[in-house]
Amino acid sequence: MPKPKVFVSRIIPDEGLGMLRAIAETEVWQDELPPPRDVLLSKVKQSDGLVSLLTDKIDGELMDANPRLKVISQMAVGYDNIDVPAATARGIPIGNTPGVLTDTTADFAFALLMSAARRIPEGIDFVRAKKWKTWGPLLLTGPDVWGATLGIIGFGRIGQGMANRARGFNMRVLYYDVYRRTDLEQSMGVQYVEMDTLLRESDFVTVHTDLNEKTRHLMNADAFAKMKRSAILVNASRGPMVDHAALYDALKSGQIYGAALDVTEPEPINLDNPLLQLPNCIIVPHIASASIATRAKMATMAAANLIAGLRGEKLPTCVNPEVYERGIRT
Ligand code: DGY
Repeated sequence: MPKPKVFVSRIIPDEGLGMLRAIAETEVWQDELPPPRDVLLSKVKQSDGLVSLLTDKIDGELMDANPRLKVISQMAVGYDNIDVPAATARGIPIGNTPGVLTDTTADFAFALLMSAARRIPEGIDFVRAKKWKTWGPLLLTGPDVWGATLGIIGFGRIGQGMANRARGFNMRVLYYDVYRRTDLEQSMGVQYVEMDTLLRESDFVTVHTDLNEKTRHLMNADAFAKMKRSAILVNASRGPMVDHAALYDALKSGQIYGAALDVTEPEPINLDNPLLQLPNCIIVPHIASASIATRAKMATMAAANLIAGLRGEKLPTCVNPEVYERGIRT
């Protein structure tokens, strides 16, 4: 029997590729940039399974390009680039990689928070620019992290990871989520508050919700107006959660103190975006989950989902399990 065909839309860690190559004829897109749309469509036409990344637009047109496409396995926990209802309607299970990147992402979001507060990137730039003349009583001072109030918007796995880290810094932790987690409040030492209270009382606001039509531009001019002038915004979720024009105004006018973004809208950020000129705005290229071990685990999870899908078995981590009631493509 011929091996099934798999297309992988970028080079992923060997741990995952090895699993795929063992059971499938596996083609891997070699460029640094994602495959252009027409290339992706033509590759899907020849494939039984697709390993996608968050940079690929996965919609009904792509799913219809090949009625033999049995499974789409995304190497990410987020899947806002995928039209999931379209996949379910067509009997295609979609896999993702939840859980394995929680702590790595929370580590990084906390590092962003500390970097913005303690002005680490500015300090590095200062030294590299040969401006360091002496110890200065007022040089690059910033707000304390320890003992401050952290407001977590979205209290899922990564939000909870932030709360765990904040405890070590003796922070007061507030959270807002559409699902209140009374079961965790006492043991984790966190307090549920309405969104407005969180914005008003937090020294750091960190966003960890899913991107959807309700959360798009959740952090907008209204939200910034409610925040403390000393507050710092951290976003390691999805770029469109923050209205960048409003963020620029808030940072420029001193409405808030600083921001640290792992994600932007669009990605990469336009090089003429004025946020790039602001010293109180740190922007890094969507690397919160980029530890070597975590990326390897994400790749093996994506491979495991893909292999299960090719075999007609339930995906170990499936974002649309309802597809099995409806009936999957064979
Ligand atoms: C995800 O998995 O959704 C992250 O944004 C990328 O690691």
